Amino acid sequence: MKKYLSASLMCADLLNLEKAIKELEEAGIDYLHIDIMDGAFVPNITLGFDLINALKKITRIPLDIHMMVNNPSQFIDRLNVDENDIICVHYESETHIHRTIEMIKNKGCKAGLALNPATPLECAENLTDYIDMLLVMTVSPGFAGQKLFRGSEKKVAKAKSLLHEWGSENILIEVDGNISLPNGEMLSGAGADIFVLGTSSLFLKDKSLTQAAEDIRAVL
Ligand code: DX5
Ligand code: ZN
Repeated sequence: MKKYLSASLMCADLLNLEKAIKELEEAGIDYLHIDIMDGAFVPNITLGFDLINALKKITRIPLDIHMMVNNPSQFIDRLNVDENDIICVHYESETHIHRTIEMIKNKGCKAGLALNPATPLECAENLTDYIDMLLVMTVSPGFAGQKLFRGSEKKVAKAKSLLHEWGSENILIEVDGNISLPNGEMLSGAGADIFVLGTSSLFLKDKSLTQAAEDIRAVL
C-alpha cells in the first residue's frame, strides 16, 4: 500500500516559504498540509485563504486543508481548490456535518472527516459514502510540538478494521500530530496511509528537508 507524506506548512520557515516548497517538491512530498484555525474551535490562529491562493500560483503539489474552525461550512466557498486537493472538516465543528461534506464534494475536490482524539470512530460510520479520507488526530488539534495521544495506535488499527467491516477500504486514514520516526512506523503498521509531518520528523534544525523526507519514508 502506498504511503503518503503531507508536509505541515505551519511548521515550515514562513519567511522562506517558496524555497521550502521547492525543496518539498524535489523531496517528492505528496501533499501540503494547511492548518486553518479560527482561535475559537482551537486556541490558535495560523494559515489562511490568501496563503492557499498564493500557493496555487507556485506549486502543483495537492493541498491537504485541515479546517480547525467552528462551522466550516461558512468558509467552504472561499477555498481555492481543484480535484486533487482535500478539504477536511472536524466532526465536532458542525451540527450538520453531512451537509458541509456535500458542499465540499460539490466543489469537485476530495472530502475528509477529522476526529479529535476523544471522538469515537463510530461517528464516521454513516458518512463513509461521502468521504475520501478519515483524519484520526493523534494530538489535540491546534499546536505543533505536542506529544502523541495515548492509544493512537489502537485507534488507527480499529479505524482500519472498521473501514473494512463497513466495506469502505477505499477511504484513506490520515494521522496528524507528533509523527516522529518511531510513531510514524508504529502508526503505519497499524494501517495509516497519510502522514502529516511537522516538527517531529520533517522540519528539523539539523537535517535537510530532502534527508528528513527520505528518513521518514524509509520507516513507513
Ligand atoms: C495541527 C498540526 C500539527 C503539526 C504536526 O493540526 O497539523 O499537528 O503541524 O506537527 P508536529 O506535531 O510534529 O509538530
Ligand atoms: Zn493539521
